[in-house]
Amino acid sequence: MCGIVGGVTERNIVPILIEGLHRLEYRGYDSAGIAYRTEENVSLVKSLGRVHDLEKKLDKKATSNIGIAHTRWATHGIPSEKNAHPHASNKNIYVAHNGIIENHEDLKSELKSEGFKLYSQTDSEVIGHLIEFYKQRGMDFDSSVMKAISRLKGAFALAVMDKNDPETLIGVRQSSPLVVGEGFDESFLASDIMALSPVTNKFKFLEDGQVVFLSKDKVSICSKDGRAAKVPTKEVDSTAYTNDLSGYNHFMEKEIFEQPESVQSALEGRITNKGTREGIFGAGFEKKLKNIENIQIVACGTSYHAGRIFEYWSHKFLGINCRVDYGSEYQYQEPVKTKKTLLMTISQSGETADTLASLKFAKKTDDPLTLTICNVANSSLCRESEYTLLTNAGPEIGVASTKAFVTQLACLNLLLLTLMQVKGAKPGTIKNIASSLIELPDQLAKTLKMTDTYKAAAKLLFKRHSTLFLGRGLYFPIAREGALKLKEISYIHAEAYPGGELKHGPLAMIDKNMPVIALVPDNEHLDKITSNIEEVAARKGKVITIGPLKKTTLNKDGGHIKIPKTLDLLNPIICVVPLQLISYYTALLKGTDVDKPRNLAKSVTVE
Ligand code: G6P
Repeated sequence: MCGIVGGVTERNIVPILIEGLHRLEYRGYDSAGIAYRTEENVSLVKSLGRVHDLEKKLDKKATSNIGIAHTRWATHGIPSEKNAHPHASNKNIYVAHNGIIENHEDLKSELKSEGFKLYSQTDSEVIGHLIEFYKQRGMDFDSSVMKAISRLKGAFALAVMDKNDPETLIGVRQSSPLVVGEGFDESFLASDIMALSPVTNKFKFLEDGQVVFLSKDKVSICSKDGRAAKVPTKEVDSTAYTNDLSGYNHFMEKEIFEQPESVQSALEGRITNKGTREGIFGAGFEKKLKNIENIQIVACGTSYHAGRIFEYWSHKFLGINCRVDYGSEYQYQEPVKTKKTLLMTISQSGETADTLASLKFAKKTDDPLTLTICNVANSSLCRESEYTLLTNAGPEIGVASTKAFVTQLACLNLLLLTLMQVKGAKPGTIKNIASSLIELPDQLAKTLKMTDTYKAAAKLLFKRHSTLFLGRGLYFPIAREGALKLKEISYIHAEAYPGGELKHGPLAMIDKNMPVIALVPDNEHLDKITSNIEEVAARKGKVITIGPLKKTTLNKDGGHIKIPKTLDLLNPIICVVPLQLISYYTALLKGTDVDKPRNLAKSVTVE
């Protein structure tokens, strides 16, 4: 979603802002803009489309020491140059905004009656005018911003610049992420550290409701009511935040092929073949787990599918009731209060607004033990949760989540093992699972080698309008993830059904034009999914089967993809690789923008 970058520097800020925008591209956007101070004025340049379109419009000789820039993902108003940020008021105040201003209609009417003209269809434009309004009433820049934000309702991260105060940038964080980067004689603001990693490795992670005043050599922070606040500076290993494709064609491809290494990092130092090590979730977690009788998981998108896998594991291996809800639904389905509950959020970014809102809601209405399985240290979910297990996948740039998902599953398996240990499961069973989990990176690596098979499957799909994915038990959430990957990057309509539901609707869609991808386990579901596949084949549907069985009588004209065999509970994780690569190669054949699929955002920071 939208991205902000800004800074006050001794050197030329313009190339830093442009590089920052490129590094924010992965979040998803449809237009971009930059405002930087020139000798006397402020230059404002905006463009529909990509950051390189904006670059083409920029004065090649542009130099400045203070500026803000933005990538916009449309919420209010179509993607257009007018709606792109920064928004200006009276050519004095310039604002880049992430989030949603919920009371923008009221503020618009008020500002119009005060003589302000609104140029865009956005909710964001009111912010600059409101600041300018207070400035016209005699307030200085700092006080005008403080007064204006006290009037705003909703979620907002802001970068604000005043033409008449050429030394200061103001940033605000309210339910939308914003970090401060500190350099030598220079200070920066950005939505995430990815944007700033070429210029600094020292960051301050603002809390909700904090305002930051930046000048070249000074960073001061206060709360919305003006009380000074101290935020520690953290050093981050910025070498991890590279936007280098390392010879791959797309970040998605790179991230799929990084999975053995990523899972290795997720397991590193956390597990032996006897089970998980103590303290990997933080001090005292195991002791608190002893009392747990319910598990509530909240997540969105791909992370939700990881949660659904844990649900099966929890029931089968722990006998603990586990419920999984979408972040956008959790609080609105009026959850029944439960005692002794572990509330777990799962998220790649740690910033998904719906997941974060659910966690805050649960903490307010109940008293659960909170844990987040997350890929981004210092993210909002990590800070709001009592305990964190980082997935250690490394930055994920491709909008469609891949290595984050597989590492989430590895981390959830660590949680399963820890719970089994705490609840007194047989050491033999724990040992069996732990040693198979340790082998997972090698099996993923083997699965990644069969690219020709996946390319052949993609050829069957890329001209079709629809694809059906079937799975049973643990393979059903994986089928859903497969369908999600295909629709996200190839725009082919894809649906996943539990095999047993085939006869209750989707069978009506089957004919020779409908490819079906069936996930075939080597367990008690085999006979039943075989019958489902026969039902499809009898209606001339083309079936591709994927599973650990060597030979299959199911070999329908789509062919069978054999994946390495491991324990039944881990085999679905290996099954993810063929599904990711089939989607990837299908998207290549269709010629879509794999890393930046239309209309989608990497980090969804609005509810
Ligand atoms: C967006 C991304 C998905 C991701 C979902 C949840 O929709 O495009 O890839 O699964 O958000 O994000 P999270 O960061 O919470 O895992």
